[in-house]
Amino acid sequence: MEKIIIEGGARLNGTVKISGAKNAALPILLSSILTDKENKINNVPNLKDVDTTCQLLKGAGVKVERSGDGQVIVDASRINNTEAPYDLVRTMRASVMVLGPLLARLGKAKVSLPGGCAIGARPINLHLKGFEALGANIKLEHGYVVAEAKRLKGNRIYFDIVTVTGTENIMMAGVLAEGKTIIENAAREPEVVNLANTLNSMGASIKGAGTDIIEINGVSRLNGGEHTVIPDRIETGTFMVAAAITGGDVEIVNCIPEYIEPVIIKLTEAGMKIDTGKDFIRVKANGKIKSVDIKTSPYPAFPTDMQAQFMSLMSISEGMSVITETVFENRFMHVAELRRMGANIKVEGNTAVIRGVPKLSAAPLMATDLRASASLILAGLAAEGETVVSRVYHLDRGYEAIEKKLSSLGAKIRRVK
Ligand code: UD1
Repeated sequence: MEKIIIEGGARLNGTVKISGAKNAALPILLSSILTDKENKINNVPNLKDVDTTCQLLKGAGVKVERSGDGQVIVDASRINNTEAPYDLVRTMRASVMVLGPLLARLGKAKVSLPGGCAIGARPINLHLKGFEALGANIKLEHGYVVAEAKRLKGNRIYFDIVTVTGTENIMMAGVLAEGKTIIENAAREPEVVNLANTLNSMGASIKGAGTDIIEINGVSRLNGGEHTVIPDRIETGTFMVAAAITGGDVEIVNCIPEYIEPVIIKLTEAGMKIDTGKDFIRVKANGKIKSVDIKTSPYPAFPTDMQAQFMSLMSISEGMSVITETVFENRFMHVAELRRMGANIKVEGNTAVIRGVPKLSAAPLMATDLRASASLILAGLAAEGETVVSRVYHLDRGYEAIEKKLSSLGAKIRRVK
């Protein structure tokens, strides 16, 4: 199993380029199922979750060609299998997003139930309720969701909780449904907008993406096209924290500052000097990290996917910080590892109270989930001594070449078998 070894203490300096967004690439790749025409998708990051999505598509009989420059060409004209097996879904929950496109295009889908994961129970009840509202017949059999519908019929769907992949799944189903579908309390994440724009360029009629009411007028068929995945806002935020935690000066390019506004605001409050342009963010630390409180919520609030990384930073801040996690019920798995590095963190329910310590000390660490892994790498960059992070396969699900990008900024980081 691979490990990442970090010799802490190097100040990061230089320029880093952000890759395409994982959470936009996955639904956009899967949306190709909706048409028998070819789709070219650009700026697809080279990640384990993208590999899994391509495997899922190939397993369904879809032709997938990947080039080294981040372009993926998908041709689902010969799609012939409607099953997403447990082995794939278990490694990537986002696989449940095949349900919407398969149901819409082929009238049926059999997808393994994802089960729980390290950060919480994460049910898909809202996805299923949405498909039922569109007229699908849903059964649960032997750990699989079996969904069937002759042709989906548009309807009004209200989500009790804002769900990102739920909104995307229903949106992909709604584009080929008969009549109008309205999603209320929809997720407003930029990745939802990227998917809606992609679908519209294929001939769909979606209005309101980016607001909490999305209106879809069903069409009978979609075309192919060429699409581009937006930059990854969580990778952007992670490099911003990397600059801050090492007392560095880093320019992050090929990003969209507007997408990561809450992190810009919180890092500014924490004492960083931040300059932004149309597609870059420069983060300059001044040696002091002030304590700030954060509360995660759906977009446009502070993203839950940046909570762990921010906690690493607050571990060495001057004072006390309160971090409240409102999106997932169990997303503090990184706390135990940060404590092993000397962090002073107390957790009660969905709140963590962090009393900053002057220095973290290196330790052998175990990654538990994707963003927690990133928080441990960040802590290692700032710690005294050599940190070894194992189970880095979590990291490879969502960060493209992270150790290469960090070492190009001067970090002493390497991967070993
Ligand atoms: C997506 C992101 C993930 C991010 C999360 C929240 C992708 C591939 N993943 O995950 O990186 O952390 O949004 O921003 O885009 N819920 C239900 N029932 C449902 C669906 C969700 O109760 O049917 C709950 C979840 O347990 C969670 C909350 O709703 O507490 C939000 O989850 P959701 O937005 O659905 O997360 P994902 O779409 O899985």
